[in-house]
Amino acid sequence: MDRPVPYESEINALLARMTLEEKLGQLQQLAWTGDTGPGEGQARLIESAAREGRLGSVLNLHGARRTNDLQRIAVEESRLGIPLVFGLDVIHGFWTTFPISLAQAASFDPDIARLDAEVSAREARSNGVHWAFSPMMDVTREPRWGRVSESSGEDPYLTAAFAAAKVRGYEGEGGGPIASDRMAACAKHFVAYGAVEGGREYNTVDVSESRLRALHLPPFRAAVDAGVATVMAAFNTLSGIPAHANAHALTDILKRDWDFDGVVVSDWAGVAELIPHGFAADPADAARLALNAGIDMEMVSTCIADRGEELLANGHISAERLDDAVARILRLKFRLGLFEHPYTDERAEISAPSAETRRSAREAAARSMVLLKNDSRSVSRDRLLPLSPDITSIAVVGPFADSTDLHGAWAGPGADAFPAVTVTEGIRLAVPGAKIGYAKGVESEGGGEATPGIAEAVAAAEASDVTVIVVGEPAGLSGEGGSRSDIGLPGEQGELIEAIARTGRPFVVVLTCGRPLALGPWLASAPAVLVAWHPGLEAGHAIADVLFGAVNPGGKLPASFPRTTGQVPIHYNHENTGRPCGPDHQDPRYGARYLDLDHGPEFPFGHGLSYTTFAFGEPTLTTFTLSAGELLDGATVEVSVTVRNTGDRDGDEVVQLYVHDPVASLVQPVRRLRGFQRVSLAAGQSTTVRFTLGAEDIGFWTNAPEGEFVIEQGDIHVYVANSSQAEVPMRTLTIK
Ligand code: NOJ
Repeated sequence: MDRPVPYESEINALLARMTLEEKLGQLQQLAWTGDTGPGEGQARLIESAAREGRLGSVLNLHGARRTNDLQRIAVEESRLGIPLVFGLDVIHGFWTTFPISLAQAASFDPDIARLDAEVSAREARSNGVHWAFSPMMDVTREPRWGRVSESSGEDPYLTAAFAAAKVRGYEGEGGGPIASDRMAACAKHFVAYGAVEGGREYNTVDVSESRLRALHLPPFRAAVDAGVATVMAAFNTLSGIPAHANAHALTDILKRDWDFDGVVVSDWAGVAELIPHGFAADPADAARLALNAGIDMEMVSTCIADRGEELLANGHISAERLDDAVARILRLKFRLGLFEHPYTDERAEISAPSAETRRSAREAAARSMVLLKNDSRSVSRDRLLPLSPDITSIAVVGPFADSTDLHGAWAGPGADAFPAVTVTEGIRLAVPGAKIGYAKGVESEGGGEATPGIAEAVAAAEASDVTVIVVGEPAGLSGEGGSRSDIGLPGEQGELIEAIARTGRPFVVVLTCGRPLALGPWLASAPAVLVAWHPGLEAGHAIADVLFGAVNPGGKLPASFPRTTGQVPIHYNHENTGRPCGPDHQDPRYGARYLDLDHGPEFPFGHGLSYTTFAFGEPTLTTFTLSAGELLDGATVEVSVTVRNTGDRDGDEVVQLYVHDPVASLVQPVRRLRGFQRVSLAAGQSTTVRFTLGAEDIGFWTNAPEGEFVIEQGDIHVYVANSSQAEVPMRTLTIK
């Protein structure tokens, strides 16, 4: 705690000159438009609040000229001239839409997230936006929850790696000043929002302390370690205490234990919502609870600004806590250089994706795709994919075949301005010599004239060598407020696939989706299935790259695909019951499973095929025994494994390291991902992949409320595999 406080003297000098009203004003963020939350936007209030020094930040406004106009009022007309900070939901792109975050996680390549953030920061910052409300890092086992699309899936280790990479991409390295082509990041939503009961948006969360620390906190810790400037509170309650009033999470863990000196912003009206939650009696009570718990800035609702004076007067909030919140907000503005350069250079505004950023988005999308299945339907070939570029006729059918609805939820302003490349367009360009037939078949969400549409699609399939069926979810069915009770393909899309299957002709199913889907009975008849997720601006090109083999798919599932919606939650890192299922537990009746389903998910976490094949050697460890004390002092063990591309095509494999503690004083997950590396290998080439296991990978958090991390004696099982469920040889590390 003895490191110097950044910008301390500048902040203190300003604080000394500020009136109470100006201090409360800094804590207020208002929304220019209401398009990302309930209500109509507050544009009317904003100018006068800025002029009177009663406003710290604005969200949902972009454009260099428009933000400058408003900034001029704050800087040139308010008494102290404190600049505003402009925030926006830049989630997976500003003009250049990258694939959704869930897709990026499927790449198992955090550089994709870093690149997205760098490109987004350049574009957004040149448009006057200083602050991205991302990365979202809610670990979730709930594919019904729409916001799974914004997440990195079901694993805390993978999520933490993507969170840190994205923070660095937005802010640059080091956690210090944020350059003029970078932006402040926001780690959200603090915390455990991904555990909403039933996957229902905004719903209740009740988690044990150990699960909070093992599953939900690690990505936030990684973001704080990467220097994240801000954190956003979550809408949910956390074991009975709303996250917006949760001093244990916001103050004890985040600000005290982790030494976080940035801003905690509320979510949209999250302070006022303490009232309907049943936690605060009225706006003054909500302001008191939120500020005292650790909220520094209030988004949209105005409880703290409206009631702060009376709360201070009657001692319900302290002058120190108020000054601390103001100091954090001023520090953010200093980090961003806004006092010296409050305005955005209007001549340098970026107004469109460039050829280079399009290329990056295309590569990112192709790298994110996951090949679930690739069987044969043709006697002359082993596998259906990749399709031959010499193909003479191809039918492209389905509601997303010729659709631009491929940007995904929470796409930035680029989604309206720059339509995504359609799949038909991508395929046309990839195989210019082929005859392309197109039929929509069915509507994406049902209704319409399904039967004639299906007949047209069948006719197109019958007239072609191969059919590509592009089905999935519209962007509107995922993202905030996008919970679904049935995560199958909406409408009659499954029937469309079954009708094409009945033709007996070869076909590929391409899924464009914002969540893991329950694929349904058609899966058995589909020779090849590719998950493209919501691929973003360059969707059609990236899909064609993979279908025709210009890119060999190497993505892996960041979240398990269930067999049916009723099987949810089903995730790889579960704990064993006393009556587990699986090959070693034969009694099918008395197991932790459903009578009407095979055991396990349809496709597990970490699964994904390639057009080539890989073989793993047996893993070796540099030591097989270590003591807990040695580990706590920083000792590590290296795990290495040889991986060989055994096929005839260059390709990527994701080497995954899992551990399991089979006997512990707190039951541990059957597998925990503790390392991954995506390697590119030429046909026939091999390489050695090395991982390091340390204390964090071997110990676990107990249920002590103040946080207790322990390493116990006993065996740790170590696996290196190409999926969470692969049967591979196990190595044992003994902790003495
Ligand atoms: C509500 C969402 O939960 C949050 O993620 C977003 O940043 C804000 N609205 C602002 O739009």
